[in-house]
Amino acid sequence: MILVTGGSGQVAQALTAGAGAGARSVRVVGRPKFDFDAPDGMIEILREARPALVVNTAAYTSVDQAEDEPEAADRANHLGPGLIARFCADSGIPLIHLSTDYVFDGQKGAPYVETDLATPVGAYGASKLAGEQAVLAAGGHAMVLRPSWVYSAVGKNFVLTMLNAAKKTDTLRVVVDQIGCPTSADDLAATIFAIADHVDTEWDARYGGVFHACGTGATSWHSLAEAVFERAAIHGLTLPTVIPIATADWRAKVTRPPDSRLDTGKLADVFGVCLPEWRGALTKVVDAVFAREAAVRRR
Ligand SMILES: NC(=O)c1ccc[n+]([C@@H]2O[C@H](COP(=O)([O-])OP(=O)(O)OC[C@H]3O[C@@H](n4cnc5c(N)ncnc54)[C@H](OP(=O)(O)O)[C@@H]3O)[C@@H](O)[C@H]2O)c1
Repeated sequence: MILVTGGSGQVAQALTAGAGAGARSVRVVGRPKFDFDAPDGMIEILREARPALVVNTAAYTSVDQAEDEPEAADRANHLGPGLIARFCADSGIPLIHLSTDYVFDGQKGAPYVETDLATPVGAYGASKLAGEQAVLAAGGHAMVLRPSWVYSAVGKNFVLTMLNAAKKTDTLRVVVDQIGCPTSADDLAATIFAIADHVDTEWDARYGGVFHACGTGATSWHSLAEAVFERAAIHGLTLPTVIPIATADWRAKVTRPPDSRLDTGKLADVFGVCLPEWRGALTKVVDAVFAREAAVRRR
């Protein structure tokens, strides 16, 4: 059984849905039972579950709010994952821990490889980097996956934010000078299952360490928004005007990396996995959003 943390989160939900399609047994745990702010209960759940693999997707993911709550972000993104990793190492359970492209400052000007120095710009990125280090320092069979710009048909994400905003306004201002690699949570879940197939069989020393795992290709938030609306128009959405703006004109507590593209060559080399091109993946998710809405209307 694969134990997945992060109950109602995008990636945890995608893993649940993906397991249904295959023969895998997945158990998802989330708050209030599995809570990084209650570490004893958290470890007890792991002990009782006796999983063959743990996938830690739970995280404090509010990038701006982390600036006001750095301790909470640290508990969820650093201290908690460290405890999970120590438990897994002591119990001989492999661990896949999710991190982020926001461990980088975005100044490289080219896709980051796993060995590039990570120098995060905010409390969220700093807590995630500390989490990576704690997970890998625990020893055992641990792997850190860094996705970027994750979205799905459920949960809180940029794609749904754009679609919801377009229902309320005909003009949207979206940042154009930040680029990254959009990642469908469904594709990430399929990648995690593909990795799990390797890890389940036999641990290879090459599996340990950091891997980048994001959609293929890159875009800006502005172009991503336009691609969302291009597809949504097929479903009858009235297209809003999407005005490109600079990061400097978008009020945020913390600056995002301007260019957090990730190189996924290592994932391809070691596991033979490559996530799909971002536009095709986005089309599927936008279609799923409208299919879900149509199903709700039919009820
Ligand atoms: N979303 C992105 O764009 C993105 C980009 C790069 C990397 N990542 C990483 O990918 C992973 C999965 O992201 P996601 O988009 O699936 O996240 P998400 O949708 O925000 O879900 C995060 C989950 O973590 C849970 N959580 C938050 N604080 C917790 C705590 N103190 N104790 C226990 N659980 C807690 C949340 O529980 P509640 O439902 O109770 O709030 C939620 O279920 C995370 O490691 C994230 O850092 C995400």
